[in-house]
Amino acid sequence: MIKKIGRFTFTVITVATVSILSCANGLYKSNTDTTDSLSDKYKDLFHLGAAINEDIIMGRDSQSKNIVTSEFNSITPENSLKWMYLQPFPNKFNFGAADKYVELGKKNNMHIVGHALVWHNQLADFMKTTVSPDEFTNHVENHINTVVSRYKGEIHAWDVVNEAFNEDGSLRPSVFKKQMGDNYIEDVFKLAETADPDADLIYNDYNLYKPAKLAGVLKMVKRLQANGTKINAIGAQAHWRLNSPSLDEIEQIILHISELGVEVMFTELDITVLPNPWELVGAEVTQNFSKFEGDPKMDPYPKGLPKSVEKQLAKRYEDIFKLFVKHQDKISRVTFWGVMDKHSWLNDWPINGRTNYPLLFDRNYQPKKAYNKLINLIGN
Ligand code: G3I
Repeated sequence: MIKKIGRFTFTVITVATVSILSCANGLYKSNTDTTDSLSDKYKDLFHLGAAINEDIIMGRDSQSKNIVTSEFNSITPENSLKWMYLQPFPNKFNFGAADKYVELGKKNNMHIVGHALVWHNQLADFMKTTVSPDEFTNHVENHINTVVSRYKGEIHAWDVVNEAFNEDGSLRPSVFKKQMGDNYIEDVFKLAETADPDADLIYNDYNLYKPAKLAGVLKMVKRLQANGTKINAIGAQAHWRLNSPSLDEIEQIILHISELGVEVMFTELDITVLPNPWELVGAEVTQNFSKFEGDPKMDPYPKGLPKSVEKQLAKRYEDIFKLFVKHQDKISRVTFWGVMDKHSWLNDWPINGRTNYPLLFDRNYQPKKAYNKLINLIGN
């Protein structure tokens, strides 16, 4: 497997011991006993990234932006490159935020990820109402050609298809399958390759620790490989919990994916600390649990995370990263789904308006115990 770490020259800003970076209205400081940033520490192992929202991209949240440019060497757009924002109406493209996103990554010599070309969620309305398969396919071709070509050589890796499989490993009956047929995944990977032959092409999904779902994805990858269709990596999203999936289940993801000779990426890592009584797992965003809104039992830490849970979260991150380090030869990127707790999607999913603590930086933009564990895991 070819690791991509050496492909770029990183000029990472070093955060000195208890050094302080001034921000618009507060201070972001590294309080560790190391002179390296997080991505400095992991630079020989894998890319370390964060998903960034539009406030960061457009410069409205300079504190988060400082954290991103100091601590990470890869970025993924949380929403700004999704179809509904890029092409809301037929052939009417809006590249404002996307251009700014790429500019930010280039300016900071980052590994820039495109998310996501083909996804049944956050798709433009016109695609849901287009009735003719030919017309639908033309729109898909136009979308991929236009978007991938625009950022050719600038966006280094694309989530070409997102969340195409059911939990039992069968193909999700999405509008793409319905309109383009069962072979649509292969078709769109080919389109992406034609538009930028040098970009890394990724298939991205959640719950890949479930053997049946992973088996469905692996079967698809083998089919693409047998047909000579380019696919570089499988992205396991990693929206996980304090106690599950187990480390063994995570290790199985790594081993099975790498056996196919493609890179393993953990593309959307975060760890919820809130109750999940319906045994709801994964990240299927269309589930609606509004009846639980405002229920204090479902939102136990509105005023702060108890020390015991904070420790548990830090240990969970440490255990997961020990596994990642063990398999660094197979993993090419680990990306957190967000920068700081306050802006995480997990405050509003699966129940709106809760207070969650899934990331490495707290609501005051300060590094948490989990951050310290990860930075101290790698020797100086
Ligand atoms: O754009 C509207 C804005 O006009 C409006 O004022 C605002 C009011 O709530 O909503 C804005 O849209 C929100 C959008 O994020 C942009 O902020 C949507 O309500 C909200 O549902 C949407 O959530 C995103 C979710 O995908 C939608 O599916 C999350 O931010 C984003 O983190 C999440 O990301 C997905 C990955 O793409 C794929 N894997 C799962 C992951 C988590 O669900």
